[in-house]
Amino acid sequence: MIDTEKRIFLSPPHMGGEELAMVTQAFESNYIAPLGPMVDAFERAFVEKTGIPHAVALSSGTAAMHLALRGLGIGPGDEVFASTLTFIGSVTPIVFEGATPVFIDADAQTWNMDPNFLAQELARCAENHRLPKAVVPTDLYGQCADLPSIKAACESYGVPVIVDAAEAMGATCNGCHAGAGAYAAVFSFNGNKIITTSGGGMLASEDADLIARARFLSQQARDPAPHYEHSCIGYNYRMSNIVAAIGLAQLKCLEERVRRKREIFSYYYQALKDLPGVAFMPEAAYGTCNRWLTVILVDAAEARTDREALRKALENENVESRPLWKPMHLQPVFQTGAATPGYADQAGGRKRHPARAVGGRVAEALFASGLCLPSGTAMSVQDLDRVIEIVRTCVG
Ligand SMILES: Cc1ncc(COP(=O)(O)O)c(C=O)c1O
Repeated sequence: MIDTEKRIFLSPPHMGGEELAMVTQAFESNYIAPLGPMVDAFERAFVEKTGIPHAVALSSGTAAMHLALRGLGIGPGDEVFASTLTFIGSVTPIVFEGATPVFIDADAQTWNMDPNFLAQELARCAENHRLPKAVVPTDLYGQCADLPSIKAACESYGVPVIVDAAEAMGATCNGCHAGAGAYAAVFSFNGNKIITTSGGGMLASEDADLIARARFLSQQARDPAPHYEHSCIGYNYRMSNIVAAIGLAQLKCLEERVRRKREIFSYYYQALKDLPGVAFMPEAAYGTCNRWLTVILVDAAEARTDREALRKALENENVESRPLWKPMHLQPVFQTGAATPGYADQAGGRKRHPARAVGGRVAEALFASGLCLPSGTAMSVQDLDRVIEIVRTCVG
């Protein structure tokens, strides 16, 4: 019998079994602190898993992005290009440093930053002698952005690429782990991610100096001295030894989690692909998506329902689903001139931040019709069937 009382969450944490023992070990060592052997071991295991040679474990993915931008000395008057179709944690660090975000539209095939839009905008900026200080593509929903094309566009101008791989642990691009080959890559271990530490992040890079500098800044920028000496401003961004213990155990499950996420995608796909007006997020030929979330598009005319009606129908049955990330160029907090119809202006009299948009139509269309379905790796076949039944009842 189907248990309709039980809420099905979008992407809840899924413990592998060894986490509690590792946390206990951390307690027994009494390293109840933002430094300790679990943090060191987590960084080493992460480096081994991703092949990115240097890494520093931090309190969040947002902190990792902030330190990557600090490493490049980005500041007021600078522009940083970012994906418009992303989560805000990808771009708020640009604003923290007083720089201006420029939101680049998505490619319809990959839903990630469109390398052609990027190349065109870089060429325009080069003509005006105003190149961005960095380009920050997001690996959306666990699908790698087209890093080779993005790097090729940036390299001729000497613009570094920082990959926001927050959602992409275990995903690959041309056989390399997400983020490998970029100037830097940012990862998140927030509770909803494919593996989690409850909250946490990682900054990884081939550049040992960048990581050493980030490590220094993440611990309040303490100069080497017996007393507390500071010659620049830092942050309290280090990962705690306790949560690193969770991360170490979770990392061991990564391949299994990717396998299960992809299986969940296939299950939904087989069960829903015949429905009129329902399409799935495509997988790019150059990589393996970790299918962090299974995402569908609902064409209202063909499906005879729309994204929001479907979301409400699922919610009525105690099933969590979510629209796609609302594009950054439509967010009220950014002053891009783009309209945000139908939403209350939460910003009120508060400050809006200058930003620019390059294109945006693709991201807007994806946002209008896209819905993320529950994709937790601990979901049972009955859970999946419950979601599928609601979708099938609603559509067509
Ligand atoms: C694309 C993207 N960027 C950045 C972040 C920020 O990571 P965190 O929540 O660990 O700060 C997240 C997730 O939360 C994300 O999905």
